[in-house]
Amino acid sequence: MTAPRIVYLNGEFLPFAEARVPIMDRGFLFADGIYEVSAVIDGRLVDNAAHLARLDRSLGEIGIRNPHDAQSWERLQTELVARNGVTEGLVYMQVTRGVAERDFAFPKAGTEPTVMMFTQAKTVLANPLAETGARVVTVEDLRWKRRDIKSVALLAQVLAKQQAAEAGVAEAWMVEDGAVTEGSSSTAFIVSRERVLVTRPLSTALLPGITRASVLRLAAEADLRIEERLIPVAEAYEAQEAFYTSASAFVMPVVEIDGRAIGEGRPGPLTRRLRELYIEAARQG
Ligand code: PDD
Repeated sequence: MTAPRIVYLNGEFLPFAEARVPIMDRGFLFADGIYEVSAVIDGRLVDNAAHLARLDRSLGEIGIRNPHDAQSWERLQTELVARNGVTEGLVYMQVTRGVAERDFAFPKAGTEPTVMMFTQAKTVLANPLAETGARVVTVEDLRWKRRDIKSVALLAQVLAKQQAAEAGVAEAWMVEDGAVTEGSSSTAFIVSRERVLVTRPLSTALLPGITRASVLRLAAEADLRIEERLIPVAEAYEAQEAFYTSASAFVMPVVEIDGRAIGEGRPGPLTRRLRELYIEAARQG
């Protein structure tokens, strides 16, 4: 028999079925909360300090007190991972403004944030999609103007991913004014015809991907040329290589965009190299 799934809710480690959140939770009513996702490989958290720093920043941007310092967060995450026996997969963390009678403005009396975490066992390293390469479709970016906040308001991304699912592909690349903003749950990259690694510069128009930052650092160390600029969709179609990054996908080769083969139609050498470099760095902690 497998051990029961244990989740974390407001200071307690509980069996999944016993973890309940009141219907007046502002996360449920207003998506008034933020989240983070860290990968686990070899039983250890990947890039976790950066994920916890972004969690702290997201909370600060929407005026929710961070209930834990980074050290306590990591202690809780590590315990949850151990209790669930996860050696490879994800830890999901969510903090909402808490429970109060429905009213749009922040509750005057103040509320205790709702803090929740769960794990998902998942193949991250030997992901077959990384061998074949992923296909993506472009969709309109329907989101708001503060995409740098990792908000739980993900309806636009849900709809984007559903379009991808209906097209039978792995990811949707969201597009605004003819350029790719990011993937529905990932950061978009191309390798240009000039063999330059291209990704969009950070701003409020996209999430500052933690995997993005690590990949750019590794690329710089490997003496690859990097340009942070917009990626027009027309250029993406003609790219030498393309890939996306996230805590769950790491570096995922893209072999087709909107039915057009990218490069040779298989994962490109630079993308493969960056995936290897990233995995190596993640393993070393
Ligand atoms: N998504 N852009 C968006 C819109 C995302 O949702 C994500 C991550 C990223 C990549 O960020 P990072 O490298 O820090 O994971 C970029 C997570 C994995 C999710 O929603 O499950």
